[in-house]
Amino acid sequence: MASESRKILVTNALPYANGPIHLGHMLGYIQADVWVRFQKMRGHECHFVCADDAHGTPIMLKAKQLGISPEQMISEMKVNHERDFADFHVAFDNYHTTHSDENRHFAELIYTRLRDAGHIKTETIEQLYDPQEQMFLPDRFVKGTCPKCGAEDQYGDNCDVCGATYAPTELKNPTSAVSGATPVLRESEHYFFDLPAFAEMLQQWTRSGSLQPEMANKLNEWFEGGLQRWDISRDAPYFGFEIPDAPGKFFYVWLDAPIGYMGSFKNYCDRTGAANFDDYWQVDSKAELYHIIGKDIIYFHSLFWPAMLYGANFRQPTNVWAHGFITVNGTKMSKSKGTFIMARTYLDHLDPDYLRYYFAAKLTSRIDDLDLNLEDFAQRVNADLVGKVVNIASRCAGFISKKFDGKLAAELSDTSLLEEFQQAASSISEAYEQREFAKAMRIIMALADKANAYIADAEPWQLIKDPAKAAEVHEICSIGINLFRLLMIYLTPVVPELSQRVQNFLKDEFNWDSSQSILTNHQIEPFKALLQRVDMTQVKAMIEASKTDTAPAQPENPHLQDDPIAAEIDFESFAKVDLRVAKIVSAEHVEGADKLLRLMLDLGGEQRQVFAGIKAAYDPASLVGKNTVMVANLAPRKMRFGMSEGMVLAAGPGGKDIFILNPDDGAEPGMRVK
Ligand code: MSP
Ligand code: ZN
Repeated sequence: MASESRKILVTNALPYANGPIHLGHMLGYIQADVWVRFQKMRGHECHFVCADDAHGTPIMLKAKQLGISPEQMISEMKVNHERDFADFHVAFDNYHTTHSDENRHFAELIYTRLRDAGHIKTETIEQLYDPQEQMFLPDRFVKGTCPKCGAEDQYGDNCDVCGATYAPTELKNPTSAVSGATPVLRESEHYFFDLPAFAEMLQQWTRSGSLQPEMANKLNEWFEGGLQRWDISRDAPYFGFEIPDAPGKFFYVWLDAPIGYMGSFKNYCDRTGAANFDDYWQVDSKAELYHIIGKDIIYFHSLFWPAMLYGANFRQPTNVWAHGFITVNGTKMSKSKGTFIMARTYLDHLDPDYLRYYFAAKLTSRIDDLDLNLEDFAQRVNADLVGKVVNIASRCAGFISKKFDGKLAAELSDTSLLEEFQQAASSISEAYEQREFAKAMRIIMALADKANAYIADAEPWQLIKDPAKAAEVHEICSIGINLFRLLMIYLTPVVPELSQRVQNFLKDEFNWDSSQSILTNHQIEPFKALLQRVDMTQVKAMIEASKTDTAPAQPENPHLQDDPIAAEIDFESFAKVDLRVAKIVSAEHVEGADKLLRLMLDLGGEQRQVFAGIKAAYDPASLVGKNTVMVANLAPRKMRFGMSEGMVLAAGPGGKDIFILNPDDGAEPGMRVK
């Protein structure tokens, strides 16, 4: 029975908004959802929040590549993510985005508190810079030859071939993965968070004894290696929040990402009134706060995040719980093998409760990797959920509805097995509480074996032949249904949809304490199939679909959709167009024309007057002196305002969204573009 009611806030790692959710992601979300559902069933006040992680260079570049704004991309992605989670029955109380007012507020608040307490330092550093894209390059966006083993095409932070780690400046023949240009070193002032100042507080936190042992070991390694200050700023162009007192500098995505937990919770509190924000985040909060994350992001959550909170006068997490990584059929998920499975592709073929059960049956509180072996998955679900649990109901329910008007017996003479099942509630709830889900599933399935043995021994299908034994059959089947009911109560956090069907069938509503009651003299619905067996042909169809999946949740590029690529032409046709670099020597508004600018273009000796429909997009003064590209041999056209002697090349749908072409540095007026 739930003792004292606890106040709990649970968060999941925030998925990046530049790609769809895949089955690897789902492990952490399912783990957290099971734990939260269990706490809610017990009657605790438990809130569960998440959000999309919407900032950073990869997101900015991905949107650019799709030809849409980052805002548009992240809002479309959020819709897809939320749909995937909902369809997997991951029931967040709130799903927000880090690109929100709440998050900006807390990012600025935490930053200014840290700054005012002296924990932010600035220093000029040298970084690789893409001269063509005019941006600093994150390590992942520099490629080159490994300085250790000579393998080509390696990222700027580590080598896939020999495993060496290095600075991007050590790469040989570096190129920018954004533009292909050769990066140059450039100086810039960066903002740093003084993590070493928190060493003592973090060590104390580590020694508190409640951390996962593997995590505590990792932290100790990091302490021994010495904590490093953390670079929290990035230069424009960047998609994120500008640092309040530093124009052109933005918070690094990982600064405002965990703050997104607060932002989402604040949004939830304001929107629903279901909780009071300060009760959960102020320094002396009595509420429990847990972050459930993958093992790859422990550093951020167990060092930077607690230190930031401490330095900014907020409470620290009660715990950070990391899980391992998913492999499929024993290896890293692979597109070509069809094992890089998107959440949506799975849902198109299989029931989400299958995967929830399979993950639960293998999850422990440790940080071990978990293999999704698809053969084993099908067998396990079929053997346990269908063969053991649902089988109990299908063996008993027919008699109840056909022979006893759908009513369970009024009295049960032998309740010893039922009592044993009821007593198991405490060991099962202890296992759930400790996130030892595999253990909870083992206890439940061992009980299911006992229930099946009980029915097999009692043989109601034999007894029913003797009319004098009707009452006995009624009792056996009523006990069977009650055993089934208890198992399904215990399984509810794991398989919520199946549980809901069972609750409808039993005309009952489950919470954790329902396990301490027994249904007697109780009307139930006629039995309908509650769960289909997993069919390997569905699994195979999912694998095939995954091989050809073109990341379905990704927004389509609207430009290609609205304006498909034109019919093919031969080279001669192209060569007829004489494109030239031209310098804009003057640009001015045209009286009486609301869209046009009059441009004077210098072709290196020869000047041309061109009227261009770019008035809404450009301030004329900003154009003067720029090089652009023009069609130099277009027949002149007489316009109301004068002759137009050519055309300037520009992209975009129109209005404010017009972008004229600029040749790279070094091009001179008059040069042919070919
Ligand atoms: N945006 C960051 C998290 C910020 S939290 C303040 C991030 N996003 S992610 O989309 O890359 O990953 C989201 C979660 O999924 C992380 O917890 C990550 O560890 C987890 N997983 C991603 N791939 C995974 C597997 N193959 N297996 C298990 N978990 C995996 O990291
Ligand atoms: Zn190497």
